[in-house]
Amino acid sequence: TSGASTTQGGGPGPASVPTISIADLRGLQDPAPGGVVRTQLVTARKAMVKLESGREIDALTFDGTLPGPPITATQGDVIEVRLRNQDIDDGVTLHWHGYDVPCSQDGAEGLTQDTVRPGGEFVYRFRADQVGTYWYHTHHSSHVNVRRGLYGTLIVKPREEDDRGALDLPLAVHTFDDGATVISGGGEHVAAPGTKVRLRLINTDSDPHRFALSGTPFTLVAVDGRDLNGPGEISEQILRLVAGGRYDVVFTMPAEPVVLSLDEGKATVWVSPRGGRRDDTAAGPDTRAWPELDLLAYGTPAPVALRHETANRNFTLVLGRGLAMVDGSPSYAQTVNGLGHPSIPDQLVAEGDTVRFTVVNRSLETHPWHLHGHPVLVLSRDGVPASGSPLWVDTFDVRPGEVWEVAFKAGNPGIWMNHCHNLPHVDQGMMLRLRYD
Ligand code: C2O
Ligand code: CU
Repeated sequence: TSGASTTQGGGPGPASVPTISIADLRGLQDPAPGGVVRTQLVTARKAMVKLESGREIDALTFDGTLPGPPITATQGDVIEVRLRNQDIDDGVTLHWHGYDVPCSQDGAEGLTQDTVRPGGEFVYRFRADQVGTYWYHTHHSSHVNVRRGLYGTLIVKPREEDDRGALDLPLAVHTFDDGATVISGGGEHVAAPGTKVRLRLINTDSDPHRFALSGTPFTLVAVDGRDLNGPGEISEQILRLVAGGRYDVVFTMPAEPVVLSLDEGKATVWVSPRGGRRDDTAAGPDTRAWPELDLLAYGTPAPVALRHETANRNFTLVLGRGLAMVDGSPSYAQTVNGLGHPSIPDQLVAEGDTVRFTVVNRSLETHPWHLHGHPVLVLSRDGVPASGSPLWVDTFDVRPGEVWEVAFKAGNPGIWMNHCHNLPHVDQGMMLRLRYD
């Protein structure tokens, strides 16, 4: 598709608004021309939920379902969600993972708001300017409570939709306490040959997942909600999706079924032209020998506005594990530069800075690094520059021994979490704050 866009009524686009009003700072913007305010009440409560497999989960939920209610909007709408906590004793918040909301709406407990106690409410409001696939989750004791069910999908579609008749499936992968992994929205779907199919893969877990799509070539059109430039056709390659990450996969429906397989067959999703499975491939093909797609070399390079070569701030985060001073006493922790939260100094920047940061993993575990409120541009991994499409992500998977360099623009003032998205690691200290005003 072309990158052409129109500005309605010739009014200023969001990028050219010259000043920040108090309303902007509070996230109380109005919809863009043609947009609406989408108001939704979401109630956090305990529930026994029966999954499609028949398994019953003793869950913490939004609105009694797993995942919570889908939150959807058209670009330019205002999303207004009233979060009510019915009976989650621990408290709850809503964090819009990957969505660059004003800081006050970020849902980061302890930084931007207090947790919402049973009987309490909090209203989130922000404008849905970014198109794409996102998700939301609680950000209080998230290492336990996200896993137990406090998560859902957030999808923003373009105002001019050219996809009439296409099949569009949000597929959120989640692992519950009993260790079983499910793809909600999975199962079996029907699409007429020749129609366009979009799969929105969402990893709501703390570990990466591997996807294999067989039966058709496809393109990976977006990563973490952001379109890639010149994505080429892929077949017989594994898509490895970082904790918290999203992939939008698109293909044209062939005459035979297409199978999406998770982690070498833990779960499958079937899209078929008639419904039902083709008997001779009931288990899907053997994908174990397929190579993994190298995201950093996928797609076509294009200029970016971020002047990262001349970044005026540089940070290095060395990730490790061991004894560290945490809150004045020695503890066993997941560490950043030898320290554990809350003893890790804040990263201080100024608005307008171009910030480059390097993450070095000196531990034996993978750390999916996640910055709130800002997409980061991937520059290099292990000294090898990214050579494909500009790759903007909100979480990147730093495996043992790896070194990643990323950069971002400090254009969204506030106090932001910068942490490992293997959520138990946050609890063990692997979190710091980025701060500016
Ligand atoms: Cu989805 Cu602070 O995280
Ligand atoms: Cu980690």
